[in-house]
Amino acid sequence: MNIPITKTVFGDEEKEAMVKPLETGWIVQGPYVSEFQEMFSEFTSAKYSHATSSCTTALHLGLESMEIKKGDKVIVPSFTYVASANAVEYTGAEVVFCDINLKTFNIDETKLEDLIKNDLSIKAIMPVHLFGLCANMPDIMKLANKYNLKVIEDSACGFDSWIDGKHSGTFGDVGCFSFHPRKSICTGEGGMLITNDDNLAIKVSQLKDHGASKSDLQRHREKGGSLLPDFTMRGYNYRMTDIQGALGVCQMNKKEYIMDGRRKVASNYDDALSMLPQLITPFVPSQYIHAYQSYVCIFTDGEDISNLTKEQIDKLNIKRNIFMEKLEEKNIATRQGTHAVHTLGYYKDKNNFKDEDFLNAYAADRLSITLPVYPDMKKEEFDYVISNIKEALI
Ligand SMILES: Cc1ncc(COP(=O)(O)O)c(C=O)c1O
Repeated sequence: MNIPITKTVFGDEEKEAMVKPLETGWIVQGPYVSEFQEMFSEFTSAKYSHATSSCTTALHLGLESMEIKKGDKVIVPSFTYVASANAVEYTGAEVVFCDINLKTFNIDETKLEDLIKNDLSIKAIMPVHLFGLCANMPDIMKLANKYNLKVIEDSACGFDSWIDGKHSGTFGDVGCFSFHPRKSICTGEGGMLITNDDNLAIKVSQLKDHGASKSDLQRHREKGGSLLPDFTMRGYNYRMTDIQGALGVCQMNKKEYIMDGRRKVASNYDDALSMLPQLITPFVPSQYIHAYQSYVCIFTDGEDISNLTKEQIDKLNIKRNIFMEKLEEKNIATRQGTHAVHTLGYYKDKNNFKDEDFLNAYAADRLSITLPVYPDMKKEEFDYVISNIKEALI
């Protein structure tokens, strides 16, 4: 058996829809992108949705539309995919890392106020809804309002993640999503920025399209379409193609199947792994709905990890890696959850960081393990993963 870390859910609908832009000639953002955006707004209850070429470009657009610039600072969790921090760097602003809560893998909101209160150059917070679990947005929004900070939610993994009936990405000023193949719904590459703010929405739609005051689709639908519009901003080309838009529409049409399937596998893992002292399964606070973009456990080898030290993390890391290798030998793909960005060469060298500067992020990097999840996972495949996990832990 060969078990990948995840699998996209593409069928005949996607194949048929993708051909249509080729036939009509609307290859760049056009009718399918519009439809995808409308469906996304309806699902998340966001007033505006803007499709982009990726989540990274959506994050850049979000920050730039909020006028984050050189001299400003933005708080980012130290355990996230590197793109969250890179997007801040694109604007010239500085990244200020904040450690995470190892239970949720998300930014530790109790550490935020100490970072914010004495630093006037901090202008925004970027909570990340890692692996499909929302960060503590109610508390983060209270702090943001108290200190008048902008909030850009990195919801790359947060499609169908909720707190008390509110979708991720709708708490702050903007929310950004990814449709990379590791994410729950997929358009190849692709992203979406959502906002309820009228002014930000206008800026984002222009910035993603070279700064044009009118999109091609609008221009072609109106009289006088032979003349180019004014370009009132220095923009980018961060548009999504209509071929990707077609994929997005099809994926939205099957989102229940995809998400129910992912949640079923996650719940089966919860049941099958809860008795194993070597692994801590994902924690879900009450009122939160986890999307399980990834099912990420912490490898403890049965040890008490309530007072972790760097030495204990490093020792357990060796064992975690052996555990992952054993599964790889059985053709079962696993991954570390994501990385501690302060330990990556660029950020480490720039700031002279030590691994233990953000100890929980370091622990998450060294001890996390993502297990395979995909909606079409068969019972035999699931059972094969579980029996090999048990064997590898002996
Ligand atoms: C937390 C997080 N932020 C940002 C990104 C970047 O998304 P994209 O690949 O769509 O640019 C990812 C992708 O893995 C991610 O996991």
